Amino acid sequence: MDPIRQKIESLRQELHEHNYNYYVLSRPVISDREYDMLMKQLTELEAQHPQWSDPNSPTMRVGSDINKNFIQVKHRYPMLSLQNTYSEGEVADFYNRVKRTLNEEFEIVCELKYDGTSISLHYEQGRLIRAVTRGDGKKGDDVTANVRTIRNVPLILKGDNLPPYVEMRGEILMPWSSFDALNREREEQEEPLFANPRNAASGTLKMQDPRIVASRKLESYMYTMLGESLPTDSHYDNMTLSRTWGLNVSPSMTKCRNLEEIFAFLKQWDVERKTLPVTTDGVVLKVDSLNQQRNLGNTSKFPRWSIAFKFNAEQALTRLESVSWQVGRTGAVTPVANLEPVLLSGTTVKRASLYNEDAINALDLHIGDMVYVEKGGEIIPKITGVDREARFMIGDKVTFARYCPDCRTPLVRNEDEAVHYCPNSGGCPPQIKGRIEHFVTRKAMNIIIGPETISLLYDKGLVYDAADLYDLRFEDLVTLERWAETSARNLLASIEQSKSVPYERVLYALGIRFVGETVAQKLAQAFPDIDALAAATPEQLMTVEEIGERIAQSVTEFFSNPKFTAFVARLRSNGLQFSLNEELLAAKTDKLKGLTIVISGTFNLHSRDEYKAMILQNGGKNSGSVSKNTDYILAGDNMGPAKLEKAEKLGVKIIDEQAFLEMIR
Ligand code: IVH
Repeated sequence: MDPIRQKIESLRQELHEHNYNYYVLSRPVISDREYDMLMKQLTELEAQHPQWSDPNSPTMRVGSDINKNFIQVKHRYPMLSLQNTYSEGEVADFYNRVKRTLNEEFEIVCELKYDGTSISLHYEQGRLIRAVTRGDGKKGDDVTANVRTIRNVPLILKGDNLPPYVEMRGEILMPWSSFDALNREREEQEEPLFANPRNAASGTLKMQDPRIVASRKLESYMYTMLGESLPTDSHYDNMTLSRTWGLNVSPSMTKCRNLEEIFAFLKQWDVERKTLPVTTDGVVLKVDSLNQQRNLGNTSKFPRWSIAFKFNAEQALTRLESVSWQVGRTGAVTPVANLEPVLLSGTTVKRASLYNEDAINALDLHIGDMVYVEKGGEIIPKITGVDREARFMIGDKVTFARYCPDCRTPLVRNEDEAVHYCPNSGGCPPQIKGRIEHFVTRKAMNIIIGPETISLLYDKGLVYDAADLYDLRFEDLVTLERWAETSARNLLASIEQSKSVPYERVLYALGIRFVGETVAQKLAQAFPDIDALAAATPEQLMTVEEIGERIAQSVTEFFSNPKFTAFVARLRSNGLQFSLNEELLAAKTDKLKGLTIVISGTFNLHSRDEYKAMILQNGGKNSGSVSKNTDYILAGDNMGPAKLEKAEKLGVKIIDEQAFLEMIR
């Protein structure tokens, strides 16, 4: 085959693969910039060699995020994408082309390019009737139920002169704060982390359960108004008006009259964007007049009246020194790149994530390679490319570990999963220690003991699983090197205290795969003791809110494994709570008679609902807002500042969990 044709074919193949990773798996293995470069290379080659054009080439369509579980809706106006550029020269080319073609006065609106997932909102008589994803640009998924949960998407528009029908387009994003919290939770569960807020937002929007979507705190930023009879001919004025309807339009939107003003905007926001609560990856330039937009028209993929200038992700070049493998408590093995330290966006980077086998293979990594590291939108820096030119002595090719780095058991990779596991859960030290570390965390048994101590106790043969903690004796501890009597006593007291930790937290502490804090609470409420839970079939488990097949499977597997049931039996004989405390929940008293109590914040010992029940059971009244009739505020962590202020003003007494439990004891 002709070598150029071969090159075209291989670029197409490569881009198809990346499209799939990006749009279907929401897990890209290369940076946007690299993707754009590949696309550009292919577009150019195809333009030079039209004899090899192909209607199925990735240059002919925009990627698809269509998910078979949603109803598909045809877009009234196609959802095009934008031509990207990284160079100011090309911005000037764009400006001059527009000027030549229009041959009249025009203005350019500059706005931030929000890096999330696009959405089309349909409003009829001011009411949100439908929300559709971009899909393949021609039709998308109807995700209305999910979008309704996003707090800054108005369900009903405000104002009098609303158009009978209007389509608003914009971006759905996950703010950094929600993204970090979500990944922390996933890390705890050893579920694969989202690489960046964009993937997290698009993954969330495609979930089947709107309640989970609601809990993830997405946000919208709108950037286009479409319809038959729009209020004005100016994009800028229409967007400004839509802000008064209640839509969230970026305050950065600015009208520019010449190239200098455009460049000033680019310069300003390359710096200021770093302080925003959401990710942006560039600036979108648009001709302001809709009439002029129509005159300029579109190519098959892009509008001629708009271009996106993308900011460079901060990159550094450094040497890959080695790759290490981390084993978590569920046995998941994660590869980590150890790098020659390098400065990147103000911090020294020594390690980078390599995600999984597919990501490693896509990079064709060798030890000693000079690699590009990027922080872009990610928390953990990642390797986005290799400088092949700099390779003069090729080191060993990096291949995924075949054996567990700790216990040498052959690793397994399930079909359809990117993750490798060490199956030796009972004998692999990091898994054993990891499970104990999870068991003692604050949200679980709240035993005050650090990872070093756990490691020490394990190495000395004193603790092999969490149940062994309850067999520790004072003599075992004081004979340890550098252990004073007080630290031994404190640890034993903390272990003793954990015996009163309520059932739902014990359930969470067991470390059953996919059973996080919330799931544990739901299970405890539905199955009030561990025997009932252990006897439940997957079908019975799935009748509980938020429990799907995956969780149900994992729970039944746990209780059918004799090793785990023996573990539970030992904990039980040590006096841990394995049933809901019925006395607490059922006994009625009038200890709180005549008292009105407001609950605020998050709690550690019981759930809000349990506290509510306790107030009622003890003859008190629970109220949602603070007033002069409030007697007490039962305050947990992060009590709302408004409530706090009001309480202080009215002189309402604030009590914590312990004090409250004391009152009803
Ligand atoms: S205008 C005809 N404005 O970037 C295209 N898009 O590459 C109309 N995006 O699919 C798009 N911020 O999801 C526009 N201020 C902005 C944007 C923006 C982010 C996204 C959008 C679009 C993609 C285009």
